[in-house]
Amino acid sequence: MERLQKLLARAGVASRRASEELIHQGRVTVDGQVVTQPGARADPAQSVICVDGQPIRLPTGHHYLLLHKPAGYITTRQDQFGRPTVMDLVPAELRSRIYPVGRLDADTTGLLLLSDDGELANRLIHPRYHVPKTYLATVEGVPNEAELQVLRSGVELEDGTTAPAQAVLVNASRTKATIRLTLSEGRNRQVKRMCEAVGHPVVKLVRIAMASLELDDLPEGQFRHLNPLEINELERVAFAED
Ligand code: URA
Repeated sequence: MERLQKLLARAGVASRRASEELIHQGRVTVDGQVVTQPGARADPAQSVICVDGQPIRLPTGHHYLLLHKPAGYITTRQDQFGRPTVMDLVPAELRSRIYPVGRLDADTTGLLLLSDDGELANRLIHPRYHVPKTYLATVEGVPNEAELQVLRSGVELEDGTTAPAQAVLVNASRTKATIRLTLSEGRNRQVKRMCEAVGHPVVKLVRIAMASLELDDLPEGQFRHLNPLEINELERVAFAED
């Protein structure tokens, strides 16, 4: 048996203090019964604990690392040619357990999740679940509105027309532009192939977000562990029914 507010905090619902407030507000149930008294305890192995009707999920002991992948590192656990891989950038004691969730090209930088949670990884990368991934693509030339519209509505590629995407021109000079692209697919080299197809080859590509995760100001080559709130939110997004 453990105090409810402690369980909620461990599940990443809210801080312990804020969890006490949720309990006080009558938003927490144990086996269907609203529990409001402070100090109430529950056994998560025996009871279903819900907040606003949603069952809480306690951490499973999995690892979740968010890496800012630099250019020149291959997204694989081991490279047959001995080139540097993203595994070189994570702690040695985790190397045998975690693996990259999806992949970025060797010259692409940005957000890469590494985990040993296979179920979540599958949800995040399988096209069926439409988990959004956002990229900043620096391209040659400046795409006009019609070209951006093609990126949004669907580009014909050799493996089929791409699904609807978001494409926003974020800045432009005379010779180059940066587009923020949000895709819900994840085919091989998709951003590069889409931009190339509308006449604007990519010269630099950074992934800045995936599902609820953002790269923010994590320095290149560095990683951080996700906190319970982030894991919870990631699961919420990944397991949302579409
Ligand atoms: N699209 C690409 O073209 N390359 C990547 O690395 C990721 C998405």
